[in-house]
Amino acid sequence: MDDKVAVLVVDDEKVVRDGCHRVLTGKGYEVLMAENGEVAIGILAKENVDIILLDLKMPVMSGEEVLEQVCPVYPEIPVIIITGHGTIDTAVECMKKGAYDFITKPFQIDQFLLTINRAAEKRRLEQKTRAYEEEKRRNLYDLNLEKSRLRTIINCMANGVMVTNRNLEVVLHNPALMRLLEIPGEVENPFSLERIFNNESLITTLKKIQSGESHKEEFISQEIEAGSNVIRAISAPALGPEGDVVGTVTVLEDITAFKQLDEMKSDFVNMVAHELRSPLVSIRQQNSVLLEGLAGPLEKKQKEFLGRGVKKIDALLELINDLLDIAKIEAGRAVEHRIPIDIGKVIEETVALMEPRAKEQGVSLSYTCDNLSPVQADPKSIEEIFNNLVSNAINYSPEGGQVIISAKGLGEYMEIKVSDTGVGIDPEELPKIFDKFYRVKHPKTRQVMGTGLGLAIVKGAVEANHGKIDVESVPDTGTTFRILLPVITSDE
Ligand SMILES: Nc1ncnc2c1ncn2[C@@H]1O[C@H](COP(=O)(O)OP(=O)(O)OP(=O)(O)O)[C@@H](O)[C@H]1O
Ligand SMILES: [Mg+2]
Repeated sequence: MDDKVAVLVVDDEKVVRDGCHRVLTGKGYEVLMAENGEVAIGILAKENVDIILLDLKMPVMSGEEVLEQVCPVYPEIPVIIITGHGTIDTAVECMKKGAYDFITKPFQIDQFLLTINRAAEKRRLEQKTRAYEEEKRRNLYDLNLEKSRLRTIINCMANGVMVTNRNLEVVLHNPALMRLLEIPGEVENPFSLERIFNNESLITTLKKIQSGESHKEEFISQEIEAGSNVIRAISAPALGPEGDVVGTVTVLEDITAFKQLDEMKSDFVNMVAHELRSPLVSIRQQNSVLLEGLAGPLEKKQKEFLGRGVKKIDALLELINDLLDIAKIEAGRAVEHRIPIDIGKVIEETVALMEPRAKEQGVSLSYTCDNLSPVQADPKSIEEIFNNLVSNAINYSPEGGQVIISAKGLGEYMEIKVSDTGVGIDPEELPKIFDKFYRVKHPKTRQVMGTGLGLAIVKGAVEANHGKIDVESVPDTGTTFRILLPVITSDE
């Protein structure tokens, strides 16, 4: 890019023009020359000029006339008037009309160059300012364009979007949000969420995110009800430039239809399981009668076949019972009645029940109890929890493994752990093992029969009893499931 400053010298005297040319080109300027005003105006229309040096006394057009024509068209070009001693008054007059400065003939080189340099600097600064302003304007335009694009996207989304600030006021929302939450009419902006949609669990979640209690990268998903709609709300923190939590962002999706379908599916599974269970139980009973020889003696082969059949029926009955349990949990009917339960006793019973299976597998089974007090829970749920966790621990441990059950009172909670020295679970599998029908594919446990419903039942049962469950596992070393269940406090 040619960034030389271009000076247009307008003077009828050739010596002046040539003198200027010599001095200025020597200083790195580009010099254009015009012998009168008309030529100068022609050059201005075609060339890029940064400074004009303009003689006052010229034929064809006087310098004053040229100035009057040039200033309004090129206000950004500084015009320096060349004047003799007799025309200083006119030069001053010209400055009032917009000339930048004047110099008197004959030129003193230093003075001349100083004036030109000053004009060049002014021109450069003005150009820079203009470029900045242009860029600022463009940025603002882009920003506005981006803003209106985002607005359009958010407004057209089928999912509800809600952004809250530090005071839990909704500062951004879209029409879908108002529709999903069934909020009629207009609302002022920002509006208080608590005043317009007072859903306790959503507000508790948002407060938790706002206070920084939840992990910054964590999304919290929950199902909430709003009028006739069932909604899945996924909330996350809105982070400021310093990475601090400045608010929350929630996306809401209407899952009403999905829930209805899910309910129909559960009803169907429930019905089928029920219908299958009664005939199976009676087949099982009749086979037992045959096996025990109550209907006449059996040959060895007959006994063997019948025995295998009974085992298959038991596995089927177990599956049916699991399906019915899951359906119950999903319908929110997992807990029939919560009563004080002696966990120590439950553990003893579980160990007694599971001991033969552990022996068969070559796994040792032991337990420890410490500072026990009764927990408030549904006895059937507790039985399911222990049976599933302990049978998993035995099933997924190789011969020679150890399974330890422990229970310890921790203030308001009872901590129950089921640990094994088994095959363990890969970290990426851990989040999935509580899903229905999910089973980890592991070469060492391929022979273990199961449906993948056990842990889904355990999790559902723990949560229905107001407890919490988590799991820690190291592949090839072992797994520990930890449960916290509320104990009975004095005010209960
Ligand atoms: N203690 C454990 N050690 C290693 N893997 C385990 C353990 N407990 C569960 N798993 C893994 O988690 C998966 C899910 O367990 P879950 O109890 O839900 O199903 P399952 O045991 O396969 O079948 P079932 O419904 O008959 O219990 C298992 O298939 C197994 O891969
Ligand atoms: Mg299991």
